[in-house]
Amino acid sequence: MILVTGGTGLVGAHLIFKLISEKKKVRAIYRDEKKFTTVKRIFSYYTNNTESLFNAIEWCKADLNNIPALNDAFSNVTLVYHCAAFVSFEPDKFHLLKKTNIEGTANIVNLCLAHNIKKLCYVSSIAAIGATNNNKKITENTEWQTEKDNSVYAITKYGAEMEVWRGTQEGLDAVIVNPGIIIGPGIWKYGSGNLFTKINNGLPFYSKGITGYVSVKDVVNAMMLLMHSPIKNERFILVAKNLSFKTFTKTVAKYLNVKPPKKEVKKWQLQLFWRFDWLKHKLTGKRRVLSKHNAVSALSIDNYSNDKIKKALGFNFENIEESIKETASYFKKN
Ligand SMILES: NC(=O)c1ccc[n+]([C@@H]2O[C@H](COP(=O)([O-])OP(=O)(O)OC[C@H]3O[C@@H](n4cnc5c(N)ncnc54)[C@H](OP(=O)(O)O)[C@@H]3O)[C@@H](O)[C@H]2O)c1
Repeated sequence: MILVTGGTGLVGAHLIFKLISEKKKVRAIYRDEKKFTTVKRIFSYYTNNTESLFNAIEWCKADLNNIPALNDAFSNVTLVYHCAAFVSFEPDKFHLLKKTNIEGTANIVNLCLAHNIKKLCYVSSIAAIGATNNNKKITENTEWQTEKDNSVYAITKYGAEMEVWRGTQEGLDAVIVNPGIIIGPGIWKYGSGNLFTKINNGLPFYSKGITGYVSVKDVVNAMMLLMHSPIKNERFILVAKNLSFKTFTKTVAKYLNVKPPKKEVKKWQLQLFWRFDWLKHKLTGKRRVLSKHNAVSALSIDNYSNDKIKKALGFNFENIEESIKETASYFKKN
């Protein structure tokens, strides 16, 4: 039996679809039945057989911080894919981020040890890797900089990795993947899917920054290949291509048949905007649109190396423009 956490999210639902399609026995944890519509929507992009594939999943209601419920989910499990996380860059959410990402991962690691799980695959992020501060590519060996003003999300993804490495010291076999921005269809209200929504709605600005992008299919394929390889206790950057936000937004707009953002947003504008956004949040309680760290990363030039996974598995990444095109086509259908 394979256990998947975060099965109602973008990565988890795509992973479950591939596992179930390969006739693997899958148990997935969930928190709210309402999210099953997301899973079914994602399945429906790839099959006419949504209901029967969905019905093959054994769902188990459990929060990452509910140890008794999680313990039940681990019964007869041999492999664990830990995809669940809380993704937020809002400083006010730091407590929940720590609780979900660090404590939640510690719980998964402890249960893996208690249940003699053969291997754990943890989905981290490029956010948990340091920066080079020069033009050199960022690799798996680039060191995390504690002294840097890291985002609350990055701190907790890094903390979660520490829990996985602690588990490996206690005898657990594990692999970690560090994807860039994950492109894939199905969730348009938040995450990378929300970028498609914003561009479709006429986003006017782009910023100067560069970061790594990868398709959700590549993430899932790499995770499954790593899980079934002898590789253990290593982490792998999953980035198909480093793109500027200008190129990314232009490509998405091209395939959505909408006008691309025209104006480059300047540093002073971003600095003004995140402060204004903070004030608005304090006065009205409305959700933050742009945190200080979002503003910094919008301008940050971060180029990631994907050499390690290519060498380790002979892995070939999908053409990212094709992934954007495919995702845009599903966006238009929805
Ligand atoms: N998307 C990206 O661009 C990206 C890039 C790099 C790394 N990542 C990492 O990839 C992983 C998957 O991301 P995603 O895009 O699939 O995220 P997502 O769509 O936001 O899904 C997150 C999943 O985690 C679950 N979850 C959150 N808090 C939980 C809790 N306390 N207990 C149990 N389940 C909980 C959610 O359940 P509910 O449905 O109940 O909320 C959902 O199934 C995450 O670890 C994320 O940090 C994502």
